[in-house]
Amino acid sequence: MKCCAGSNCRAFESVFDASYAEDDLEEYRAHGPAKSTRALLQAIQDATPVAGATLLDIGGGVGAVHHELLKAGARSAVDVDGSSAFLAAARREAERLGHADRVSYLHGDFVTLAGEIASADIVTLDRVICCYPDMPQLVGAAAARARRVLGLVFPRDAWWARAGVWAVNLFERLRRDPLLFYVHRVTDVDAVAGRNGLRLHFHRSVGILWQVRVYARDATP
Ligand SMILES: C[S@@+](CC[C@H](N)C(=O)[O-])C[C@H]1O[C@@H](n2cnc3c(N)ncnc32)[C@H](O)[C@@H]1O
Repeated sequence: MKCCAGSNCRAFESVFDASYAEDDLEEYRAHGPAKSTRALLQAIQDATPVAGATLLDIGGGVGAVHHELLKAGARSAVDVDGSSAFLAAARREAERLGHADRVSYLHGDFVTLAGEIASADIVTLDRVICCYPDMPQLVGAAAARARRVLGLVFPRDAWWARAGVWAVNLFERLRRDPLLFYVHRVTDVDAVAGRNGLRLHFHRSVGILWQVRVYARDATP
């Protein structure tokens, strides 16, 4: 694992800590992926064959996306996360599920590491861009590495999501918490994907907070 420096990484390390990771792992073992993650997984499997595919899971958390796609036949996965506690939890789960030899782990801010990370057939950002200020850098680097499909879950671009995030951020600032949350404009996300040759293939709202968007690369003529 690489070391993670910089203010984004300090925030990830402090907020996404061992007890958060433990709770998330317990939840995943008990109930499987979250509803929005299930919708993302289904949309990816509808968009492209998963058998034999390679996966880049950015901000994978305890690894729900890559565990499920590896179970569905994906060849290998790279998990990049700014939280060492989440990476350790994802690795523990991969060992329990018997596919740890098919996963590589990188610790750090994906935007900083992107230059040394290979492209993959499927790239995912599941509930990740909501904790990152520079959406164009993060989504742009992810899109550039998506050979077939890029899948995201992020907050709906709606007034109630903005109001909720504003309230959460006020609380975060009062507690001097290092991590803030963001509702990025959906048109901006679409534009970054488009500039990287990806077209919107699927979109769906899940509950009042989340939306799933899957982009696919135009087939070469
Ligand atoms: C809210 S959690 C989501 C985890 C998981 N994908 C899920 O949906 O359950 C956000 C995760 O993304 C990671 N993260 C956010 N921005 C990142 C970046 N630029 N590079 C690497 N990891 C990042 C955080 O460390 C954290 O583990």
